[in-house]
Amino acid sequence: MIPQRGTEFFADGRSARPQVVGTVSRNQLHMDEYFYTGLVDGKEQDALPFPATMQVLERGQERFNVYCTPCHSRVGNGLGMIVERGYKPAGNYHDPKRLAQPLSHYFFVMTNGYGAMPDYSEQLAPADRWAVAAYIRALQLSQNATQADVPSGTQVENLNDVAEREGHPEWAGPWELPSTAVFATPETGIAAGAPATRANAPNAVIQNPSNAGTSAKAHGNTK
Ligand code: HEC
Repeated sequence: MIPQRGTEFFADGRSARPQVVGTVSRNQLHMDEYFYTGLVDGKEQDALPFPATMQVLERGQERFNVYCTPCHSRVGNGLGMIVERGYKPAGNYHDPKRLAQPLSHYFFVMTNGYGAMPDYSEQLAPADRWAVAAYIRALQLSQNATQADVPSGTQVENLNDVAEREGHPEWAGPWELPSTAVFATPETGIAAGAPATRANAPNAVIQNPSNAGTSAKAHGNTK
């Protein structure tokens, strides 16, 4: 039969038939509820459904950098490039609320989306979603690391200190969302990348980023 075509052969008029009793499932029977939903009895859990090996973390890092960094940034502070251009600030994985969330919460968010964030179930197979969740835990550790957490000879450094040492421009401030944004227009005469202050932009339209939409803005940042 041509797909979707009706037939008079069966009493219900459908040419596509339901599976007969006793059909053996191949690939689509998701018996492992936690692996596919991140839930046990409707509740999120703090466990990875397979061992967290280095290979899993590396896969998670690679997938995270592809799919999550545009909004959440490489360190997961929620200040990715898309957010800098006016998208709703994405969650910061290092705030106390998110540090306290169980591991499968991340899996659940990737699977179902969360508020303004779309879901990533098409782009990431379940095993990859778990790998990304595991990597987020590693990121959380790394961004809250103390000297005691690393082998001797390795030094824990603040991101801003690194930026300073690597010779970022002098206007580069801490890695935070700008509290003001100046629109570069011929009238303001501000070059893209210049700092947004009232002093250097007396005639500029200065707006809070949450109102700034996606218009081009001239703001200096450390990245
Ligand atoms: C297009 C931008 C965008 C991308 C890409 C994105 N997110 Fe988000 N994410 C957001 C936004 C915006 C929020 C805050 C949503 C809200 O509060 O409405 C968020 C929130 C979250 C939260 C916090 C949920 C909570 O409980 O507060 C998690 C966890 C998260 N994202 C994980 C991810 C992961 C993992 C990826 C990659 C697979 C990803 N996000 C990709 C925009 C994005």
